[in-house]
Amino acid sequence: MDKEMLFSPAAIAARVKELGQTISADYQGRELLLVGILNGAFIFAADLARQITVPLKVDFVRAASYGQGSSTSGRVRLSKDVELPLAGRHVLLVEDIVDSGLTLARLRDLFLAREVASLRVCALIDKQQRRLVEVPVDYPGFLVERGFLVGYGLDYAEQYRQYPAIYRVREERLAK
Ligand code: IMP
Ligand code: MG
Repeated sequence: MDKEMLFSPAAIAARVKELGQTISADYQGRELLLVGILNGAFIFAADLARQITVPLKVDFVRAASYGQGSSTSGRVRLSKDVELPLAGRHVLLVEDIVDSGLTLARLRDLFLAREVASLRVCALIDKQQRRLVEVPVDYPGFLVERGFLVGYGLDYAEQYRQYPAIYRVREERLAK
């Protein structure tokens, strides 16, 4: 596959460590419920959790956009819910990448309806300029302006998630 490296494993590790420190400071004295969004965030959530020093529980949801390819269809379905109760919990949603914002906006609504004590979002990659709906990203890892990314959990057609670095794929390779 024709690709260029955007973030090396060392750059990712350094940024994840910083995020963990910031989050740990913000949640001093509270217990956090880290909710990773499958599948893309599985690696990021695992690394981030290990950089957080406040008491922590971990759970996962799986959100899937209908359809395949490299751009969102705009319809989001929750195909796996959390197992732990959310009411009264300080929830941190952990996402791999926020693009149109549709996935995150839908998840936020679902979570807010369950009487969480607080809800914040940490996303490793924030493609701010591509938002179709406004949604807050409290802890953005890296801002990226353009392109389709793979690696460190991010896939193209379910492949390349295992790459330790993050790459931008040459766009002409992708079916839109
Ligand atoms: P959104 O709903 O458009 O914000 O898209 C969010 C989801 O689309 C993310 O959780 C990713 O799974 C996927 N996605 C968006 N951009 C990329 C990318 O550049 N590479 C891989 N997956 C992406
Ligand atoms: Mg995802």
